[in-house]
Amino acid sequence: MTVGIHSSLLLPCGALIPNRLCKAALTEGLADAMNRSTPQLDRLYRAWSEGGSGLVVTGNVQVDRRYLERPGNVVIDRNGGIDALRRYAQAGTVAGNHLWMQVNHPGRQTPRHVCTQPIAPSAIALKVGGDHYVPPRAMHAHEIDDAIARFAHVSAMARATGFTGVQIHAAHGYLISQFLSPLANQRTDEWGGSLVNRARFLRETVRACRAAAGDDFPIGVKLNSSDFQLGGFSHEECLQVVRWLGEDGVDLLELSGGNYEQPSMMGVRGTAGAAQSSQPVAESTRLREAYFLEYSKAVRAVASMPVMITGGLRTRTAMNEILASGEADMIGLGRPVCVDTDLPAQLIAGRVESAQSYERGIDPPKAGLGWFCLQLMKIGRGEPPDRTLSGAQAIRDYVDNEQQAAQALIGRPAAH
Ligand SMILES: Cc1cc2nc3c(=O)[nH]c(=O)nc-3n(C[C@H](O)[C@H](O)[C@H](O)COP(=O)(O)O)c2cc1C
Repeated sequence: MTVGIHSSLLLPCGALIPNRLCKAALTEGLADAMNRSTPQLDRLYRAWSEGGSGLVVTGNVQVDRRYLERPGNVVIDRNGGIDALRRYAQAGTVAGNHLWMQVNHPGRQTPRHVCTQPIAPSAIALKVGGDHYVPPRAMHAHEIDDAIARFAHVSAMARATGFTGVQIHAAHGYLISQFLSPLANQRTDEWGGSLVNRARFLRETVRACRAAAGDDFPIGVKLNSSDFQLGGFSHEECLQVVRWLGEDGVDLLELSGGNYEQPSMMGVRGTAGAAQSSQPVAESTRLREAYFLEYSKAVRAVASMPVMITGGLRTRTAMNEILASGEADMIGLGRPVCVDTDLPAQLIAGRVESAQSYERGIDPPKAGLGWFCLQLMKIGRGEPPDRTLSGAQAIRDYVDNEQQAAQALIGRPAAH
């Protein structure tokens, strides 16, 4: 039978994903002031579980509350909240889907209102964001060991509280992606220089998470097909890292691309950042829909684990064609499920032919991220999504929300 979005997928660790659609990681900003899970997260993940994805990946969960991607992130660093995590996992698996926790450390992409001294592989500032990001200092060797141990701790806690897998975030310019990039990582020790050295942080993290969570626990990695920056992590380097991750026993590779300087994950190339794009933008319609399809073929040829592509996928026809032709094994969906949480079920049942591309109607386009984040907060509060929200209002509401959440962090007990 032809493989399609309805087909199940067996992972190397023995886990079975009931279908080929994945709700991709979407930062929620719904944790409490101690960065613990909340009833809003339970409500949102129940909706996504009931929405039909075979795999639901959480928004990025941080390993250390000193360094957040945004103030409302969930953090697991001995800050309590274990029962809240259990409720979160239970709500997110009610329909029998997999629920994987995305585990992350933002490194230099930690905003100023969260932390006044971020850490990174090297003391190299982001070239975008102006005052919003403080130049990082280079991590000491013991901080590298500590960060890896924290990824492992979070993986063990994910398993203990009922999540059915983890995804290590090695894409989009966060800490692991910074280690992989020759532009962000200019270390001269065993953590920098050659690709072997730049990939060491990722591979050691995978090994530590595997040891902590067990051989039968799914471990995925989200990786850039390329940073799309001259001198950055290249597609050729991505192929070698994928070979290594196969040796390391990774169960699912999610292919994305870009970072804050070059936001290719949202379909934008060649805009921000001092470095220029080293890749042309695809011209054909089908390639345009799936941002990273031209890379997934090559990745799949060297990958010993299944490969998922995320970014731009909207039509049922394109998704099924990609799966049937073997260009990828799973399809990730991001922005459409911020509004239509049951889209995967609708696509599989054939009730809709295409996801809505809400991003096309948001003016100005830079309001997009806030617009989608606000929809998640609404669903978490039990309100319907607001498809008519204007871009200008989204910017105002999102900035207000982030400032309030950052204020709430002030005065809490010191981190462990
Ligand atoms: C509101 C929002 C939050 C996101 N948060 C995360 C995240 O926490 N982790 C991650 O890996 N990607 C994150 N992404 C990127 C998505 O997972 C996905 O790669 C991207 O939206 C492209 O897929 P799409 O075209 O289907 O939206 C986020 C995207 C949006 C719009």
